[in-house]
Formats: sequence, C-alpha cells, structure tokens
Amino acid sequence: MRSRMPYRLANSATESSRKDLGMGTTRGFGVDVGGSGIKGCLVDVQAGALDGERLRIPTPQPSTPDAVADVIAEIVDKFDWHGPVGVTLPCVVTGGTARTAANVDKGWIGTDAAALFAERLGRSRDEVLVLNDADAAGLAEMRYGAGVGRSGTVVLLTFGTGIGSAVFLDGKLVPNTELGHLEVDGHDAETRAAASVKDELDLSWEEWAARVTRYIRALEDLIWPDLIIAGGGVSKKAHKWLPLLDVRTEVVPATLKNDAGIVGAAIAVHERFVVD
Ligand code: BGC
Repeated sequence: MRSRMPYRLANSATESSRKDLGMGTTRGFGVDVGGSGIKGCLVDVQAGALDGERLRIPTPQPSTPDAVADVIAEIVDKFDWHGPVGVTLPCVVTGGTARTAANVDKGWIGTDAAALFAERLGRSRDEVLVLNDADAAGLAEMRYGAGVGRSGTVVLLTFGTGIGSAVFLDGKLVPNTELGHLEVDGHDAETRAAASVKDELDLSWEEWAARVTRYIRALEDLIWPDLIIAGGGVSKKAHKWLPLLDVRTEVVPATLKNDAGIVGAAIAVHERFVVD
C-alpha cells in the first residue's frame, strides 16, 4: 500500500538496537483505537497474528486526542517495545492527519495524529503510521484472512460502534472509503445497521440482519463487489446472522476477528521500515 522506504541505521546501531527498531525481525506493534476500547499487542508480521496476549484499556471519555495518546503510550510502554508503531483511528486519515470523527471526540478533526503519537511515544514521525481502522483490518484480512487469493472488488465491512469499510481492487487498498455512511432510506446507514444499534435497540438477529440486508443491497447496487468480508466484533457470531442475509454478493466472515485492526496496523508500519 505504501512505497517501501529504505531506513538508514545510524553507524553506531548494533544488532540488538536494530532488532529493537523492528527491522530484520518479524515483530511489529499495532494499536487499534475503537469507540469502547484501545487494544495493542506485539504482532508477528510474517504470520499475521498476535505475538502474545493483547492489552485492552477502555477508551477514555471524552476520547480527546490527548487522552487517547496517553493510553497508547501506556500500552506501548507495558510491552517495552521500542520499534515503529502502527495505530488505527475510527476516522478518515490522510497523511497522518485525522479528517473526520463520527464516533470519537470531535477534537480529532484536523489533528496531526502521527505527530501527536510520535511525540508521546518518543519516536520520529516516520516511526508512527496512522490509518483508518477498517482499512487496517482490511489489509490484515486480505493478507492473512478471508481475502487471501481473492481478486476483483473486495469490500470489508466492520460492524461495531459504527460501520467501517475497506475497498480493495485486485488486492490494492482504496483508502478512506467510508461506505458505512451511505445514505439508505434517508438515514446514515451506520445509525441503522451498526452492531451497536442491535444492542441499543435490543434487536433480534433476524431484525438486525434485515437492516444489514437493506444496507448491503444499497451498497452492492453502487459498487458491485465480488466479495464482502464481514468483520468487527460481531463477526465472532457470524453463524447467527450471515445465513439470514438476503443479498446478491458472497459474504464471508472475517477470520482475524477482533485482532485484524492490530495486525493490519503493525503490518502497515512494519513495511515502511523494510530495509531494501
Ligand atoms: C467512521 C469510519 C470508521 C468506522 C468504524 C465510522 O463511523 O466514519 O472512519 O472506520 O466508523 O470505526
């Protein structure tokens, strides 16, 4: 997704400091910032899996940039990790700056998140990569999960507090698509069909699946995907609702489940540091 950036080591860098930077190793670090929790873990970027137990801290309320940055620093410190860090935000992110804030504090809009996290983590700006949460999950699913070997137009949808989307064409990400905000029947789709709405309104699986069907039908008429990957926490219970969907497109559950965002964030920043 990003061009490979050769990383120059200081002449004095030893093999162990090289490893600490996450270079020449298969380890990376990802943090996934969600509406209710901030999760981080070491990641085996070659296996596409968490390397050990992840740490989850409730998202501070209000979820201001400073408060979230403090939690991210706390998580990274707990792992004693000194290499590059990938961070997801539930926002449109361009060039490290958050542009929207549908389900987080509005203070994120216009915040240079990459600079903020770099400062808090004591790293250079290049050692921190910030991307949209659904895009990160999609990268992980395409590389290691339900999207492996799938070409054409693949859409990952994350059903959680909101609805996130990641669109891939022949495996290449089209970032910041925000298809969760399609207007369907006069409503912002995520306010009708996110997993949080199921909980808030105490909907049955059938009732909620009918809303998801309506949403996916609107989406598939606009971009005609070859495959939809259903992600987000609710994908753990895919057997309860995927069979209830009545849509044209093949829909499969995400396989990395809750870890996809962390894994995708770690992959994204790790690849920036591949030494050519
Ligand atoms: C945001 C997206 C985000 C999604 C999932 C939406 O409300 O606009 O940027 O990916 O929620 O968190």
